[in-house]
Amino acid sequence: MKAAIDTPWRVMYNSAVVMNAVGDTADLRRKKRMNKGELLYEGKAKKVYETDDPAYLIVSYKDDATAFNGLKKGTIAGKGVINNQMSNLLMQLLEKNGVPSHFVEELNERETVVKRVKIVPLEVIIRNISAGSFAKRYGVEEGIVFAEPTVEFSYKNDDLGDPLLNSYHALALGLVTKEEIATIEKYAFRVNEVLKAFWKECGVTLVDFKVEFGRLADGTIILADEISPDTCRLWDSETGKKLDKDRFRRDLGGVEDAYQEIMGRLTAHIKG
Ligand SMILES: Nc1ncnc2c1ncn2[C@@H]1O[C@H](COP(=O)(O)OP(=O)(O)OP(=O)(O)O)[C@@H](O)[C@H]1O
Ligand SMILES: [Mg+2]
Repeated sequence: MKAAIDTPWRVMYNSAVVMNAVGDTADLRRKKRMNKGELLYEGKAKKVYETDDPAYLIVSYKDDATAFNGLKKGTIAGKGVINNQMSNLLMQLLEKNGVPSHFVEELNERETVVKRVKIVPLEVIIRNISAGSFAKRYGVEEGIVFAEPTVEFSYKNDDLGDPLLNSYHALALGLVTKEEIATIEKYAFRVNEVLKAFWKECGVTLVDFKVEFGRLADGTIILADEISPDTCRLWDSETGKKLDKDRFRRDLGGVEDAYQEIMGRLTAHIKG
């Protein structure tokens, strides 16, 4: 097992990240009094439950897949398991590299205890290479490698179709404070550095991704939601093959296989 990835920022990971033993679920629940309570929210990809402790929630990952603001619906068999496990591993990697996250404990293959936050209603998107809505919006081809990563925000508001906005708009709308948006941007770029280096070692190019942040009761900003092939564009570094939700969005076929493959790359690298 390697102790560190050799990058300017030294992306640290160790066996503790990998050996995130699921452990004895019943014992964990007893210890932390993490009984699954009321269903608080059912989203497109996850269900969120209350627990006995108001500071924690249980997230349960589904196989349901949607795209284009819910216009396209389907199922990707096994996706919930992969997204749960991948998100948990990556959040632990990020925590070790300076990005605090909501991850607490994996209960089983689909369920995880997380710190409860008030979600900041912004989707934070970092891009390294042109793709998706960026390519469409600016009339450029996919695959242009940017000299520097970009950041963009969209307002999490389904009725409005999650419109794009800039940080001044977010301030004007009272969605965040100046300090918060600075913290969010700093963390988002750090997530990019850490994950780009990590995926590179798996033979995968991190094209772009979306993250969400939230506020703990004391106002601290932490990374929340998920990091998975649903929320990242991941291309095979050699062939350019898409190993993410674009296979579902664009009917490219081999969706389940792509999710299995990307998870396999991650676990093989961590174990290797
Ligand atoms: N730690 C957390 N505390 C509270 N809410 C969270 C936390 N992590 C994620 N969430 C929220 O839980 C929901 C997860 O469900 P899912 O990803 O299925 O939602 P969604 O269909 O994408 O909808 P949304 O438009 O609300 O993001 C999201 O609304 C997400 O913002
Ligand atoms: Mg979501």
